[in-house]
Amino acid sequence: MLILKSHFKSRNGNLIIGELDVVELAKRFGTPLYVMDEQRIREKYRKFYAAFSSRWPSVLVCYALKANSNLAIAKILKSEGAGADVSSDNEMRIALQAGVPGTKMVFNGNHKSPSELKLAIENNVMINVDSFQELEAIEAITSKLKLRARISFRVNPDVQASTHPYIATGLRESKFGFDVASGQAFSAYRRALDMNNVEVVGMHANIGSQILEPEPFEEEARKLMALVVELKEKLNVFISVMDFGGGIGIPYKPEEKELDPNVVAERMVSVVKSVTEEKDLPKPTLMFEPGRYMVGDSGVLLTKVGYTKERPGIPTWIFIDAGMNALIRPALYGAYHHIEVANKLENKNDFEYNVGGPLCESGDFLGKNRKLAKVEQNDLVAVFDVGAYGLAMSNQHTAQSRPAVVLVNRNKAEIVRKRETFEDLTRLDQIPEWLK
Ligand code: LLP
Repeated sequence: MLILKSHFKSRNGNLIIGELDVVELAKRFGTPLYVMDEQRIREKYRKFYAAFSSRWPSVLVCYALKANSNLAIAKILKSEGAGADVSSDNEMRIALQAGVPGTKMVFNGNHKSPSELKLAIENNVMINVDSFQELEAIEAITSKLKLRARISFRVNPDVQASTHPYIATGLRESKFGFDVASGQAFSAYRRALDMNNVEVVGMHANIGSQILEPEPFEEEARKLMALVVELKEKLNVFISVMDFGGGIGIPYKPEEKELDPNVVAERMVSVVKSVTEEKDLPKPTLMFEPGRYMVGDSGVLLTKVGYTKERPGIPTWIFIDAGMNALIRPALYGAYHHIEVANKLENKNDFEYNVGGPLCESGDFLGKNRKLAKVEQNDLVAVFDVGAYGLAMSNQHTAQSRPAVVLVNRNKAEIVRKRETFEDLTRLDQIPEWLK
C-alpha cells in the first residue's frame, strides 16, 4: 500500500514535492538528488515553537545544525526566529553566516578545542560544558582574552529512552555530561562559582535522539528541576536557561506514529511550572535543540534505477545511483527509510525488492524486502525522511560525488548545494616530491 506523508502529493502517479513534479526535478537537476521542502520546514518549526511558547513565557528553539548544516536550511530556520545548536566551530560559522547572533546559540560537545572555545567566547555563545577539564580550559581562555563566558553544564540524568544504542545519550554510561546521581553535576556548579570569568546561566541535558514517546522527556524535566532546586537551596545559584536538548523523533516506518510536540510540551512545562511555583523560583527560559524534528521529513533522496537483477529465491535487486555514500543511516544503524517508485505511485506495490546502492560493498543497500511497484530501468526511486543526518553524514566512499541538494519552495526550485565534481574530490590531494 502506498503511504505518503501529508505534505506530499501524487499527480499522474508522480511524486509532488511542494508543487513540483519529481520527474521534472530529476530532469532539470539530475540524480542522485536531495530535495528539501522549505514550507514543510517552516511548518515543523512553527508547530514546535507554538507548542512550548503557548504554555510558557520564554522559549528559545535552537535548531541543531548537525542534522543538516546547509546554509540555506540554516537561513530558513533563522528567518523563523530559531537560534542555533552548534557542535563545531564550522557549524558556528555557518550559523553566524545565516545571521544567527551568538547570543542565540549554544555550543555542544564533549571535545571542544581551545580555538573552538575561543570562537564561542568571542561571539558570546552559551557553552554547554561537558567536563571539569573543559571548565578549567574555559576559565584559562577567558582570563587571557579578558572576556566572560556564558556557560551551562551538560548533565547526565540517566534517562532511559527506547532508541538505537548509538543515539541514546542520556544513559549514565554514555560519554556525555556530568553525572547527576553521584553529585558530580552539583560539584561542577560549585567549582564554577569560584571562577572569575564564567557566568553560570544554564543547565543542559540531551537524552537521546529519535524518541517517539513523551515519558522520557518528562523524566528529564523532573530530574533536571530537582537539581535546579538543590542548586538554589544549597548554593543560592539561579538557573535562568533550562536547555532540554533535542530528541523528538519522526515516524520513519508507515506504522509509526508522530510524537506531537504539544504532548511533550504539556508534560515538560507542567513539571517546570509546578517546581518553580512550589519553590518560588523565577521562571527560566526554556530552550530546545531539535534537529531531526525540524528537517527530517522535509527531505527526499531522489535516485534513478540503473539496473535490476533477478536471483532465484531472493527478492530482485534493483540498483540505484545512491547508496551508503549518500545516506549511511541504513548501513550504520540498520535504519528504515521508506522507499517508493516516485514515477509509479499509482501502481500497486505488489513486487518485492532489495534496493542496492552503487558501491562495492555488500552492506551498501538502502532497503531490503521492500514491496514496490514493478521497477524498470530509469525509474525514479524516492527515499523518504532523509532531511536530517542524510547529507550531513554522507561520504565519498569509492570516490563518489556527494549528491546535489535542491530546495523547493512551492513552485520554485533552486540548487542550494552543488553536486560535487571530480575536481572537488581531488582538490585537497597532493603528490609528495618523491613521487613526482
Ligand atoms: N542536542 C544535542 C546535544 C545532540 O547531541 C543532538 C543530537 C541534538 C541536540 C539533536 O537531536 P535530534 O533532535 O536531531 O534528535 N546520526 C544519528 C542521530 C545522532 C544524534 C546526535 N545528537 C541518526 O542519524 O539518527
